[in-house]
Amino acid sequence: MKKQKTVTILLLAVLLLVSMFPNCNAKAESSVKTGIIGAMDEEVDSLKDAVTDAKITSIGGMDFCEGMLDGAPVVVVKCGVGKVNAGNCAQILITVFGVGRIINTGVAGSLDASIDIGDIVVSTDAVQHDFDLTPMGFAPGELVGIDSPSLPADQDLRECAVNAVRQCAPEIHVFEGRICTGDQFIASAEQKEAITAKFGGLCCEMEGGAIAQICCQNKIPFVIIRAISDKADASAQMDYPEFEHAAAIRCAAITRYMITH
Ligand code: ADE
Repeated sequence: MKKQKTVTILLLAVLLLVSMFPNCNAKAESSVKTGIIGAMDEEVDSLKDAVTDAKITSIGGMDFCEGMLDGAPVVVVKCGVGKVNAGNCAQILITVFGVGRIINTGVAGSLDASIDIGDIVVSTDAVQHDFDLTPMGFAPGELVGIDSPSLPADQDLRECAVNAVRQCAPEIHVFEGRICTGDQFIASAEQKEAITAKFGGLCCEMEGGAIAQICCQNKIPFVIIRAISDKADASAQMDYPEFEHAAAIRCAAITRYMITH
């Protein structure tokens, strides 16, 4: 009887320990193909270069690079800038290539004074800040048929992304929060204030919310990982060209670490 009790307590302790740590062994789930989307060359080139047995398929002006990334099946693609490109790309990854999850990597403008150039933001959720049916009685950003402005990222992928930053770039500050997407480059304090007043949010970019919408509609897990290239205010036009390249490369390296460890 006493032995049975001890075994039960031991089992419970093991279960508790296991639940405390995220399952970040993306490689172990080797049957799940991962779609990796970036908007620009710098955001995906280093990943494409690392793909082995690569097969390129061109659809809709996009080159889908399918193969293995350090033993994990992937499709890496540059979607181009903006929501239409990004949404179209995500749907092709799901329908044509059968990916089971999507990671969006790239750069973003900071919306929060505590988040600096070079820092990383991992999405808790995404909103489309420029989607506006408020005259029809909808909430700001509320998408028809989804009934909420908020498109939640996958919990496991979020934990794996944060873990990847902590493991492979421990000197980098990582934040978790909302990512605001729209077909606008945000480069003034007024634009920034207009977005945060309605949605809060840690950073702004131009693709994540569209990828999130397609993933939600197809019930595919996603996460957005963004490195900050500018402050989305009057300094953005100067800072973006200076910091974009390094930020994009950093984010791609984190994405690679995430899916191959
Ligand atoms: N991507 C990087 N910086 C951005 C900004 N300021 N606005 C929109 N997208 C961005």
